[in-house]
Amino acid sequence: MNRGCVITKIQDMEKNKRTVTCGELRGKDNGKSIVLNGWVHRIREHGGISFINLRDRYGITQVVVDSNQYPQLAETAKSLRMEFCIAIKGTVRLRPDDMINNEMDTGEIEVEATEITVLSKSEVLPFMIDEVNKDGTPVIPNEDLRLKYRYLDLRTKRMQHHLALRSKVTLATRNFLYEKGFYELETPTFIKSTPEGARDYLVPSRLYPGKFYALPQSPQLYKQILMVSGFDKYFQIARCYRDEDARGDRQPEFTQIDMEMSFVERDDVLDLTEGLMQHIFKETMNVTLPEHFPRIAYDDAIELYGTDKPELRFEMKMQDGDFLSDIGSFQAFKDAVKEGGIKALVVPGVAEAYSRKKIEELEATAKIYKAKGLAWMKVTGNPDAPMLEGGISKFFEGKASEICNKLGAKPGDLLLFVADSKRKVACTALGACRTKLGKDLNLCDPDKWAFAWIVDFPMFEWNEEENKWDTAHHMFTMPQYKYHETLESDPGSVKGDLYDLVLNGYELASGSIRIHDPELQKRIFKIVGFDEAEGQKKFGFLTEAFKYGAPPHGGIAPGLDRLIMLMCKENSIHDVIAFPKNSFAISPMDECPSTVDQKQLDELHLKITE
Ligand code: AMO
Ligand code: AMP
Repeated sequence: MNRGCVITKIQDMEKNKRTVTCGELRGKDNGKSIVLNGWVHRIREHGGISFINLRDRYGITQVVVDSNQYPQLAETAKSLRMEFCIAIKGTVRLRPDDMINNEMDTGEIEVEATEITVLSKSEVLPFMIDEVNKDGTPVIPNEDLRLKYRYLDLRTKRMQHHLALRSKVTLATRNFLYEKGFYELETPTFIKSTPEGARDYLVPSRLYPGKFYALPQSPQLYKQILMVSGFDKYFQIARCYRDEDARGDRQPEFTQIDMEMSFVERDDVLDLTEGLMQHIFKETMNVTLPEHFPRIAYDDAIELYGTDKPELRFEMKMQDGDFLSDIGSFQAFKDAVKEGGIKALVVPGVAEAYSRKKIEELEATAKIYKAKGLAWMKVTGNPDAPMLEGGISKFFEGKASEICNKLGAKPGDLLLFVADSKRKVACTALGACRTKLGKDLNLCDPDKWAFAWIVDFPMFEWNEEENKWDTAHHMFTMPQYKYHETLESDPGSVKGDLYDLVLNGYELASGSIRIHDPELQKRIFKIVGFDEAEGQKKFGFLTEAFKYGAPPHGGIAPGLDRLIMLMCKENSIHDVIAFPKNSFAISPMDECPSTVDQKQLDELHLKITE
């Protein structure tokens, strides 16, 4: 077993305890005797000298073992394999000038080993840590393999960075909010199941057959009740649980920076959140964010970008194309404009680059969002006498100048249109093309942070399936004051006092000013189809609490995982969570969810049916 190396006993750790980390030695440490602990990152041999790259969280240090000087030690070095956990005793020495490695923080020095102790061996690895392709790009194993061996995956530089940043962001959040007078308070994770939007995860009760706790989709109701209790500034780094289909930016179990405040208006919440984001970005990445983020009304966001989470790192706003129905003979436009509308998008300078095939790809995107088609024309000619070519141009003969003037288009531009009898379909479908173009044309500067507030959301949404109104956010959102009279008579036009924070095309946070009047709350329950008894059964504890002097209050909850994902420039929140579930809500490492013993089922009064 022991090919010349010493396996330490536990008590030996004292003498093998590191005196420095693998990231800290520099030229000034020349001559020092040190002890390093870490993992064998790479090992290679050159003319009788073994080079061991030893790695820990802080960096990599090169260790050398000279077989001429230390023949026995060289034998030990040869027995090492990747990811063995070892201790090295040795002396720091400057590297010869031609061996200095400027890409390594510790590249000025190396450690001449005098003793090597294996603290723990490693099996042959399922994948190499930080393997790179010939062109220097990282080799990324498939996700299930990474998740099965998550402890190894987490050793990679990328994952070490992401989790370190996550920790720093959490600390910066706490510091900022404590400074502002917030209390960090916990709320229960076994709660009453209430309809909050997504499906609940349920926990069966052993003591009460047929009864269940639910895991919270968010601490929403409890934080509101804490306001009733007088804790007027609350926050929590809160775990939330939602049984919904997983996507890149969604997990069944995720974390929110959950906040609530009393005696505030919308702008107080927005200002606080801006301050929090500025603090986080400055403290953890030295990025200075603007003092205020732009505010866009929901209706404008839909008209200009076709989405309530617009990517604002590039402009390219959609425009109104309704005028086209009058000046041309394209029937789809004429039909659509009667009830809905025509949306137009000028894509600068890509007329030549965009072949029919590429336009068809865009059309497929538009169709996912229910568009009937994607009409297009290319602007040619010269600026004084533009011409239109291809696509639907034959329906607009002689109208090139007028169209180009109205849309601000010039030769070389590609014009795209979606018309629909439902205006929102035209907006969202063309908006999806805009987002795709942003990616395809590399319009999104990775170093830009385009925050914006989306405000003035509709309070209610029509539920086509159930033929009833639903609340667009949650049922505790305050309708804007000016609509209080017309809540029941015209729910569709009511705007809620709610707001989303978006960053680089993602919804980062959601929040609202809440209802604190039990009577108003009852009216909202009624509009969404809860009768009094049902409202009482589901949310009675909240409306009961509100009977005892509930203060006006409001709050917000940024998703911590999404924030870190964006800060790390990743596409999936899986990459910023230590132990995430895969896209099928499974954890390949511990294989949960798993079956349980019959005894456990019996205790819980549960029977599994086919
Ligand atoms: P909402 O449901 O919009 O609001 O959630 C707030 C933020 O949480 C993040 N988020 C998620 N992140 C990962 N996986 C998920 N499945 C997931 N779902 C949501 C998003 C989102 O913007 N109680 C309210 C907040 C409030 O009104 O104060 C709430 O939960 O970043
Ligand atoms: P058609 O007249 O159906 O052959 O369509 C001609 C072109 O117009 C095709 O490129 C279609 O994708 C597009 N088109 C059809 N209907 C619409 C619509 N409602 N909005 C935008 N483009 C459309």
